[in-house]
Amino acid sequence: MSEENKKRLHELRKLSREGGGEKRVKAQHDKGKFTARERIEILLDRGSFEEVDAFVKHRSHDFGLDSQHFFTDGVVTGSGTIDGRLVFVFSQDFTVFGGSLSEAHAEKICKIMDMAMKVGAPVIGLNDSGGARIQEGVVSLGGYADIFLRNTMASGVIPQLSAVMGPCAGGAVYSPAITDFIFMVEHTSYMFVTGPNVVKTVTHEDVTAEDLGGAMTHASKSGVAHFTHENEVQSLTQLRRLIGFIPQNNMECPPHRPTADDRNRRDAALDDVVPDNPNKPYDIKDVITRTVDDGEFMEVQEHYAGNVVVGFARYDGRSVGIVANQPAVLAGVLDIDASLKAARFVRFCDCFNIPLVVFEDVPGFLPGTEQEWRGIIKHGAKLLYAFAEATVQKITIITRKAYGGAYDVMNSKHIRGDFNYAWPSAEIAVMGPKGAVEIIFRKDIEASKDPEAALEEKIEEYREKFANPFIAAERGYIDDVFEPNETRPRIIRALDILENKADSNPSKKHGNIPL
Ligand code: HXC
Repeated sequence: MSEENKKRLHELRKLSREGGGEKRVKAQHDKGKFTARERIEILLDRGSFEEVDAFVKHRSHDFGLDSQHFFTDGVVTGSGTIDGRLVFVFSQDFTVFGGSLSEAHAEKICKIMDMAMKVGAPVIGLNDSGGARIQEGVVSLGGYADIFLRNTMASGVIPQLSAVMGPCAGGAVYSPAITDFIFMVEHTSYMFVTGPNVVKTVTHEDVTAEDLGGAMTHASKSGVAHFTHENEVQSLTQLRRLIGFIPQNNMECPPHRPTADDRNRRDAALDDVVPDNPNKPYDIKDVITRTVDDGEFMEVQEHYAGNVVVGFARYDGRSVGIVANQPAVLAGVLDIDASLKAARFVRFCDCFNIPLVVFEDVPGFLPGTEQEWRGIIKHGAKLLYAFAEATVQKITIITRKAYGGAYDVMNSKHIRGDFNYAWPSAEIAVMGPKGAVEIIFRKDIEASKDPEAALEEKIEEYREKFANPFIAAERGYIDDVFEPNETRPRIIRALDILENKADSNPSKKHGNIPL
C-alpha cells in the first residue's frame, strides 16, 4: 500500500466519522442527545462494531443537494455484539440532513436487514430522523416501503428492536411500529403520524410535541412504546438487557443465564400474599419477583394497562415470558388495552421459543358500553387466539380468581396449557359467588323471609361448592394444587419436563387473528 493511498483512506474515514460536522454535533449534544456513533458505542460491546457503507453518499442533484455531500448519508450501519452475541444495527445520524431518509440511506438499512435475515441475528434500529428526504421525493418514499417490507418479512424470524431517540414522524413511524419493541427517551424523542402544526390546522387542537407523541404519551396512553427512560444511556443499557432474554432467531432458544439462586428455593412469604378477603387486592409483582431468579423481572409496557403485567424473567437460568393479571389495578379485570398488551407479548414469546408462565387472578372481562362499543369482543379474542395458537411451553398458576371466559382465555388446559396449577386459594367458576347466586337463586331469595340472610347462605353454599380449585382438579383441568411457597421449584420442574416439547399448528398460509 502506498503512503498516499493509506493517507487518503484515513482522511476519508475521519471525514465519514465526523458526520455533519462540529457545529451540528454540538447542536445535537446541546439538545441532550448523543450522536449516531456515540449511541452505537454505548449499545455494543466495546470495540465490536464492524461498520459497512461508511463511504456511501446520496446521488441526488435537485434542490442544491449536488453541492452537499456527507459520507454515510445520515445513517451509520453495521454489526457488533451485545454480551458476545451478534446483532445488526442502524443508527440514524441527525447531524447529516437531519437523519432524513434518502434512497441511499434506505439501501444501507435494507442491506443490513438482509444480512441479518441470512445470518439469523437481531436488528436494532436507533431512529433519529426528520423523515423522508424532502429533496428526493418519491424515491425516499419508496425507500421507506422497501424497509417496511423487510420489517414485515423479518417479523417472527429475527427479533427487531427500535429505539426512538429523536424525531420519528409521518410514515417513518411505521417501521418501528412493525418491530417487536419500541424504546423511547423522555423529552427528546417523539413519534407521530402528523405533528402539532398539522393537528392544529385540521382539528384546531393545541398540543405540544411531547404531549402528542412523547415517550410517556406512548408508554402510558397509546401503548405504542414498550419502554421509556429518562435518558439515552438508560435506554441503550436496557436494550442490551432485553437482548439477554431473547434468542437470535426463531430457530434458536433464548440464552441460558446461570444463577446462584437455588432452584429448590421455597418462599414462605408467598403463603400470605393472597388476602383472606377475596375482594382485597394484592400486588402480583410480589409473586413474580419472589419466584424468579434473583428477583429480576424486566417489565414490558409498565405504564400501560396495569391490570395485566407482562415481562421477561428467568427460572433456573431459563428465559420466560410472564403474563399476570394484576389484582392491584382494576381488580385484575381484562379490558381492551390489557388484552392487546398481553396478546402481543404472548405472540412475541411464541415466535421466539420463549416459554410462557401465567399467573392468573382474574374476575372476568370488563363490562360496560365503553368496552363493548370499542370491541372488547374482538380484542379479548386476540388474547384467546394468541394463547391458543402458542406452541411454546405454557404453564399457568391460578392464584385466586379464574372466572368466566377469562378462565378459558388465560392459558387454560383446554387451549393447550401444558401444566395448569392452582394454589389452594383458587376460585374457578363461571362467575363470582354473589353474581352467580343472584341469578340462579333469585326466586328463592326473593321468596324467603330474610332475603339478606338467604343470599349470604346461598353465597356460602356456592363458594363451598365452586370457589375452590378441586372441582377443576377432579376433571384434570388443573394438574395439581400446591402451596404457594412451592411455586418456584414447581415451575422449574415443569420447565425441565417441557424442555423438549414439540407441538405445532395445522399448515396454513397464516391464521386470521381478529384484528
Ligand atoms: C431533508 C431535512 C429534513 C428532511 C430535516 N432536515 N428534515 N432535510 N429532508 N425531511 C435537515 C434540515 O434542513 C437541517 O439541515 C437539518 O436537517 C436539521 O433540521 P432542523 O430543522 O434545523 O432541526 P430541528 O430544528 O431540530 O427540527 C427537526 C425537525 C424539522 C422537527 C425534524 O427538521 C422538520 O420538521 N423536518 C421535516 C419533517 C417532515 O415533515 N418530514 C417529512 C415527513 S413525511 P441543515 O443543513 O441546516 O443542518 C414522511 C413520509 C414518510 O416522512 C413516508 C413513509 C411512508
